[in-house]
Amino acid sequence: MSATNVVDRVRERSDIVEIIGQHVQLRKAAKNFKGLCPFHQEKTPSFTVYPDSQHFHCFGCGAGGDVFSFVMQVEHVDFREALRELAQRAGVELEQAPPPSPEVVERHARLFELNARAATFFTHVLWSTPNGEPGRELLERRGVDRATAERFQLGFAPDRWDALLTVLGKRGVAPEDLIEAGLATAREGGGGAYDRFRNRLIFPIHDREGRTVGFGGRALGDAQPKYLNSPQTAIFDKGANLYALDLAQEAIRRLREVVVVEGYMDAIAAHQFGFTNVVASMGTALTEEQVRLVRRSVDRIVLALDADAAGQMATVRGLDVMRGALAETDRIDVEPVGLVRFERTLKTDIRIVRLPSGKDPDELIRADADAWRSAVAEPVPLLDFYVDAVTGDTPPSDPREKSERVSRLVPLLREVADPVVREHYVKLVARRLDVDENLVRRARPASTTRRPRLTEPPQRARSSVSTEDHVIALLVTFPEVLKSIAATLP
Ligand code: UTP
Ligand code: MN
Repeated sequence: MSATNVVDRVRERSDIVEIIGQHVQLRKAAKNFKGLCPFHQEKTPSFTVYPDSQHFHCFGCGAGGDVFSFVMQVEHVDFREALRELAQRAGVELEQAPPPSPEVVERHARLFELNARAATFFTHVLWSTPNGEPGRELLERRGVDRATAERFQLGFAPDRWDALLTVLGKRGVAPEDLIEAGLATAREGGGGAYDRFRNRLIFPIHDREGRTVGFGGRALGDAQPKYLNSPQTAIFDKGANLYALDLAQEAIRRLREVVVVEGYMDAIAAHQFGFTNVVASMGTALTEEQVRLVRRSVDRIVLALDADAAGQMATVRGLDVMRGALAETDRIDVEPVGLVRFERTLKTDIRIVRLPSGKDPDELIRADADAWRSAVAEPVPLLDFYVDAVTGDTPPSDPREKSERVSRLVPLLREVADPVVREHYVKLVARRLDVDENLVRRARPASTTRRPRLTEPPQRARSSVSTEDHVIALLVTFPEVLKSIAATLP
């Protein structure tokens, strides 16, 4: 079945009146249906659904389109996600991505193999050579025992420009291959290559199936960057992997819960102390791909953020900082709106554990494993966490400050699909900030809190065009609607 056929099939099997009826209270008006527009504030219904042509149009704000554009606009998702949701509802099987060509399979296999050989070399250096001494010392100082280090296949990259190049070179691996694998870097102006990882403790990163896809390398002492990671390669994308997922998978499935920490060392400490359903997001904010890796195995995703990160996520300033940090990868980062959206579109319960200030999971687990255990056992629902963080303990006395806090929370509240749940939080915010509930319901989001996703169509501009012009535009675009409109005329 071709892609367009799938779209048509899904469209055929989705009744726009039924889909829209889940979001808007519709009333029959002749052959059509009318309701209050979900895309702008209005008191008299100018939002119309046309069952014959399976379109909708709002005469107030100009929003309009088919069932796909409705889902995209009302849920703030891209076309692919709207298609996925509607296909699932309609029971239409979506075509899987075509299988990769034999050449691609072969090329990837070679990269997995090279990474595996590099990992073997690094572990050999760590445990069996004098060059590995600084690595063994670091592990000892950090309290990582040998069994755990071996389970994670930790290694050490010697303080040389060509250690890996030479060792694998002798076995017939060309520098170009190591460059392609992200293990070596080409020298500027052509002419050779040098090892990417030097004088660092090595953390191999495995995919869910246990294949080595990349590496993180921790500097000794205060050298910068603290962690150097593999660059993006044909088989590695940091934001599409969760560190330790291969080792954690079994426990994750058994407990139906995954705990996500930020750092390599955090995940390792957790596993060493028996908390084996822990994975690391590797510093970047949790991505949609990472959520997708685990969501089918779990009922709940628990984010264990150290107090700094938690504090950051809760502030608009922090959000901007995070966006800046993530611009390099252009991925949808975990800003609060993103997380709340994941909860809804990926149907995953995401909760947050706020750790005592100044402690990251590694430190907390080693200092007091029971404190960690009880913190993780009582995670806070995402929205409660944000509402708490933004509203603070007492309502601000400055009215502008109140207003700003309301605007900051509004985009989150809008992401909540269930009206009962949304109302709960509207009331909570109103109470916490000591403002009228209706103000919270009607407030506009702060302009900084909503960034369009790359895949999202540009926001429909609020139109100042007259209703007459709208009707004409509508008829030109969807002439088939003419009949249904004629039917509504007296
Ligand atoms: P942290 O700075 O919190 O480091 O970064 P950490 O994990 O606590 O490491 P230690 O305890 O100081 O040794 C969290 C994670 O962010 C990524 C790494 O995955 C790291 O584990 N990170 C951090 C980088 O990729 N590069 C960096 O330079 C720093
Ligand atoms: Mn740490």
